Amino acid sequence: MQRFRRLRKNETIRNMMRETRLHPSDLVYPMFIIEGENIKNPVDSMPGIYQYSLDRMGEELDRVMESGVRSVLLFGIPEHKDEVGSQAYDENGIMQRAVRQIKENYPRLYVIVDVCLCEYTSHGHCGLVRGGEVLNDETLPLLSKMSVTLAKAGADMIAPSDMMDGRVSAIREALDENGFSGVPIMAYSAKFASGYYSPFRDAAHSAPEFGDRRGYQMDFANGKEAIREIEEDIEEGADIVMVKPALAYLDVLKEASLTFDMPLAVYNVSGEYSMVKAAAANGWIDEKKIVTENLTAMKRAGAKIIITYHALDMARWIREDA
Ligand code: PBG
Ligand code: ZN
Repeated sequence: MQRFRRLRKNETIRNMMRETRLHPSDLVYPMFIIEGENIKNPVDSMPGIYQYSLDRMGEELDRVMESGVRSVLLFGIPEHKDEVGSQAYDENGIMQRAVRQIKENYPRLYVIVDVCLCEYTSHGHCGLVRGGEVLNDETLPLLSKMSVTLAKAGADMIAPSDMMDGRVSAIREALDENGFSGVPIMAYSAKFASGYYSPFRDAAHSAPEFGDRRGYQMDFANGKEAIREIEEDIEEGADIVMVKPALAYLDVLKEASLTFDMPLAVYNVSGEYSMVKAAAANGWIDEKKIVTENLTAMKRAGAKIIITYHALDMARWIREDA
């Protein structure tokens, strides 16, 4: 008989046997930056998460620095939206200004920017729309322009989340042409059309006005196609590839980690966060235990980078337990 329990006898030996450990440097904290002044708006569907205006985002950035997390993923919420999402690629757009301000005041913080049009378009879709259709190729130059303006502002990494085909190579080319060959791309490669994004759409004001995103995001039933999406983004020049959401897609993450010798990211999305927070608020689960288990599972499945709204709490718990 194999006596597995010998190596589970006490905390010390369990710690020695532990295969997977979370570290604050694994974590990326998403933040919502809104145009306007003196704003700290709670996102009702995401307890603990706020939208900040530029003049108040320092409050949250200080908490990030204190937590030991060294990387943020930024989303911008502009005051004015239009058909073509102009504010997404304006040199003085909310994101561009946020990046400049952060790099000036928090030079050690690694700033990743979400590149997509949905927060900036009046129709709320991730690309240009004509005749009720989300256009692919016509959207690419706008995503490229957005990426270049953000790189100019000082963004450390570009993360396209739109799911248009060919956007990684278009963005790579535009970055290179403009002197940003050193700026990496983290591609939302296997991004599924998911019910788990709904709290985010309140947070980022990005719900589509008509239809849904199933014409460009992946069908959640498809695992093989996810591998092809990831393969294509690697060929197009992605430095890091992502699976999103996380918990219902750990099989995809695991398969990607066995298939590709590439850094993998996973996005523990808004709905996954809100479910945990709601159950914890009711006293039905222990938040620290559940979050630690969830995030450890993501790392065990192969994620190098975990994007999560729990990042600051998790970093604190890691410190407490060290
Ligand atoms: C924008 C974008 C979304 C998320 C990240 N970038 C929403 C969407 O695709 O509808 C979801 C993040 C989350 O739910 O936490 N394209
Ligand atoms: Zn989008």
